[in-house]
Amino acid sequence: MNVLATADEMRRWTVQRKAAGESVGLVPTMGYLHEAHLSLVDLAKRASGAVVVSVFVNPTQFGPGEDYEAYPRDEERDLRLCRERGVAAVYLPPVSEMYPEGYATYVEVEGLGDQLCGASRPGHFRGVCTVVSKLFNAVQPDVAVFGRKDAQQARILERMTSDLQFGIRIVLGDTLREHDGLAMSSRNVRLSREHRAQAPALYRGLRDALRLFERGERSASEIVRAARERIERDAPGGDVEYVELVDWNTLAPVTSIERTALLALAVRFGPVRLIDNVLLEV
Ligand code: PAF
Repeated sequence: MNVLATADEMRRWTVQRKAAGESVGLVPTMGYLHEAHLSLVDLAKRASGAVVVSVFVNPTQFGPGEDYEAYPRDEERDLRLCRERGVAAVYLPPVSEMYPEGYATYVEVEGLGDQLCGASRPGHFRGVCTVVSKLFNAVQPDVAVFGRKDAQQARILERMTSDLQFGIRIVLGDTLREHDGLAMSSRNVRLSREHRAQAPALYRGLRDALRLFERGERSASEIVRAARERIERDAPGGDVEYVELVDWNTLAPVTSIERTALLALAVRFGPVRLIDNVLLEV
């Protein structure tokens, strides 16, 4: 497994792989890898010849007072897990490589980033789009794999990839869950014992809402209420930031479900902000 630190090295590596007739798949991550990341690696392997995992905690997607400094990191372990999973290369650029002094260029997708997580994290998706564009330019993959847990991010990156004509196929991987339903996330390790015990309420809320939808309910306010009530009852230590139902294509809020919709939520447990979602498919 190769470990590369600069865009030039990374690009040379890809050129060699492509010259050997291989296609390249990229799994962008912020490290502290867990099974859900590794399931994206497996997906990338099925879609391409050689898999690159990027590990970079991207400062431009964290707002002031967010958890950039506290975000968990363990480079050695990440490299071991990648090696064990058959990853061909890890791109591990330092911050100075990605954002050297004088750096001034940002990528912004208009519209899709104003609601849901974008409403409480201004600038977050601008940071995500900027770093992913840079990763695309460095790695030059044929395929890039993202998780559905970050559903809004996935939709925005699909839009960006298409608008900027990167020529990269975007593949989305399903959310992986712990045995109690909590969506896997690098941030879960930062939950207190009490908050960790309450956090599965997020998925229970989503399941309650999904059941209501499956029984024929189409009113957004009823569906949102079912999720919210369950979370507020079962997770009193959580502070619900939003529970919203939006159109899966446009991410615009809907009042009644006529096309496939995304029920998404964010809940804060002390300093830890968790997100989760389900698709309500029509
Ligand atoms: O989903 C993430 O971990 C990050 O937002 C990403 C896509 C790696 C960009 O930093």
